[in-house]
Amino acid sequence: MSRVVLIGSQWGDEGKGKVTDFLGQQADVVVRSQGGNNAGHTIIIGEEKFALQTIPSGIFNPKIKNVLANGMVINPKRALEELKNLEKRGITDYQLFISNRAHVIMPYHLDMDGAYEKFKGDNKIGTTKKGIGPCYSDKSNRIGIRMGDLVEPISLRDALENALPIKNMELESLGLKPYNFRELYEEYVEIGKKFAPFVCDTSELLQEEIEKNSNILFEGAQGTMLCLDHGTYPYVTSSSPTAASVPVNAGVPPQAIDHVVGICKAYTTRVGEGPFATELKNHLGDLIRERGHEYGTVTKRPRRVGYLDLVVVNYAKRISGIDSLALMLLDVLTGIDELKICVGYKLDGKRINTIPATLRDYSRCEPIYIDLPSWKEDITNVTNYDELPANAKNYVETIEKVTGIPVDIISIGAERNSTIIRRNIFKI
Ligand code: GDP
Ligand code: IMO
Ligand code: MG
Repeated sequence: MSRVVLIGSQWGDEGKGKVTDFLGQQADVVVRSQGGNNAGHTIIIGEEKFALQTIPSGIFNPKIKNVLANGMVINPKRALEELKNLEKRGITDYQLFISNRAHVIMPYHLDMDGAYEKFKGDNKIGTTKKGIGPCYSDKSNRIGIRMGDLVEPISLRDALENALPIKNMELESLGLKPYNFRELYEEYVEIGKKFAPFVCDTSELLQEEIEKNSNILFEGAQGTMLCLDHGTYPYVTSSSPTAASVPVNAGVPPQAIDHVVGICKAYTTRVGEGPFATELKNHLGDLIRERGHEYGTVTKRPRRVGYLDLVVVNYAKRISGIDSLALMLLDVLTGIDELKICVGYKLDGKRINTIPATLRDYSRCEPIYIDLPSWKEDITNVTNYDELPANAKNYVETIEKVTGIPVDIISIGAERNSTIIRRNIFKI
């Protein structure tokens, strides 16, 4: 298997950064294909902790080609800041390629994200306020600015002349300050100069790598339940974090995908608003939040915490065709007495095994749980599956039984080495 897609199978923050970094040791190319700096991917290398937002998690390895593909939305100021911070910490030798078709998050997108949330009041989405939704809206509305425009002053002028009058009207109608064309244009021409060395046709680059049979890792951002099409709409992000979206968002054919890994926390978390059937609003939720350090990488918001919901994971399997699971943060559940896994929902007295489309139905779903025996032994130093306590193995094997997906990777700590490998994904 040389081309592997990693997707979040829940509501994001499943540990995609850690798995990308881990599997990245065998990868030639790492690709981010959707989302932007709403993502927060944590990577721990030795004593150092990195939180990446726009930059792919392969950036630490000078041999890896890191690609920001066409489906992404990129805030160039924040991306430069991220690179500068990495350089300050000694990451100076890297390969980065940015698609000329990726869209640029402009300052007015940030203003609008904040204003929409404010106007929605109690119905706010709880976005990361990074301008993601407004930027994707402009892409759909065909008034976006792309990275290829940013690095070409004449194209930038044309694209901004097309967009800004409309954006300024919208800003004023929201009670926000409009932008001066000249000032914004001149500022972004300068920013564009810094990106010129990175911007190219990344679909062409990926085609060449596919022909060479290189190991390519597509690093997902967000998670299936935040998908614009299949998630808990409208409490979702504005792109599709599914495996099916990768070909469109990276400019590769569907046949290029050999294997899909679903990244799945041993429990469930969600940041922002929206339905969450297995949420624990009690001491146990607080305990898991503290033990798992469940605070947003990007916004520092406390993450909502709940039991593992396999209706969600099975739904992600249906949408993305998950071949392997990477079960993350299993160590956090050590010593938790009241272990449960949700295996179905009850809606209006009937059992269902899928995610209802409407918020009204989903918010009325009651989880159907199975109880599982807990384990007390410290598992953080386990290197081999057989060394896990019987009840931890039972937890893993219950997940395999209910989902029908092999758990090929088990993560028992945030560090690279705290990983149990049951099958080498690139060698399946
Ligand atoms: P991502 O957005 O999917 O990359 O995930 P985040 O980085 O936002 O959140 C995952 C968090 O869990 C990070 O703080 C990781 O360092 C941490 N983490 C990842 N795997 C493990 C694990 O197996 N055990 C523990 N205790 N922490 C982990
Ligand atoms: P990673 O890649 C968790 C959530 C936000 C909000 C909703 C919409 O780290 O898993 P947006 O700013 O995208 O318009 O916000 O989506 N969200 C995430 N939650 N992890 C993420 O990324 C997220 N990216 C967006 O909290 O509920
Ligand atoms: Mg995250």
